[in-house]
Amino acid sequence: MANKVFRENILQGKVAFVTGGGTGITGGVARALSKAGAKVAITSRKTENLEPMKKTIEDGGGECFAVASDVRDYEAVESAIAATIDHFGKIDIVVNGAAGNFLCKASELSANGFGTVVDIDTKGTFNVCRASYEELKKNGGQIINISATLHYLATPMQIHVSAAKAGVDAITRNLAVEWGRKGIRVNGIAPGPIEDTEGMKRLLPPQLKEALTRKIPLQRFGLIEDIENSAVFLASDGASYINGVTLVVDGGHWLTGTGLG
Ligand code: COA
Repeated sequence: MANKVFRENILQGKVAFVTGGGTGITGGVARALSKAGAKVAITSRKTENLEPMKKTIEDGGGECFAVASDVRDYEAVESAIAATIDHFGKIDIVVNGAAGNFLCKASELSANGFGTVVDIDTKGTFNVCRASYEELKKNGGQIINISATLHYLATPMQIHVSAAKAGVDAITRNLAVEWGRKGIRVNGIAPGPIEDTEGMKRLLPPQLKEALTRKIPLQRFGLIEDIENSAVFLASDGASYINGVTLVVDGGHWLTGTGLG
């Protein structure tokens, strides 16, 4: 389980910019980066979704800057990044966690529904990477893109997210090659089923939880802390030769397929 020792102060002196950093998995990542010593800027569409996490981080002795922005809006992203640099002086680590999701059959999904998720997940990830490029280049910084395993096989009712996350993985690999040469590492994390997240609450009917657990080789759902540990590791110098990888953190789940039987 979680090894808290390795992450103490491991990111001292670093500044992280985390999209979707107010809640859920990426909220946990923001909190963990702070516990590991980084100053953290969090952004999402609504300020009210950021305030509780800002307070949690500050109550834990960390520094947090909350700035509202919609990752679909390039100019808004540029201003959030500029405001973070004004506030903390720099950015070393970018985490792209902002995401949209809902269950919908492909035959019932509207073009706008498909496009909305691709806009948030894929275009949003590109926007944030692109807008932070010059700053990351200056600092030998790095990017962590939160992905998924849905698209490794095929996941019913998730065509929009599967397509969007496949795009995110392509961004991770392309930027790792193009920007690795500029001293920027670009990696991803693909969480499997994670306990106590908005995604699981809304996407997994409670009666299916037991069947899903049986399918996971490690026989349990992941914890937000499992993703936090992976993010802290990837962000640390311990991962200094890791570039272009999407780390699957799913207890081996996707290897057993997407059905529940
Ligand atoms: N089923 C089918 N279509 C849906 C839908 C659902 N549950 N939710 C949204 N859509 C469609 C809408 O109908 C609309 O398409 P239309 O114009 O053809 O009708 C399109 O998606 C955009 O919806 P809208 O509500 O205007 O978009 P939004 O930008 O306000 O937010 C989401 C859309 C998907 C991001 C919204 O569900 C959301 O905010 N979710 C919370 C974030 C989240 O899911 N995080 C978990 C990550 S695992």
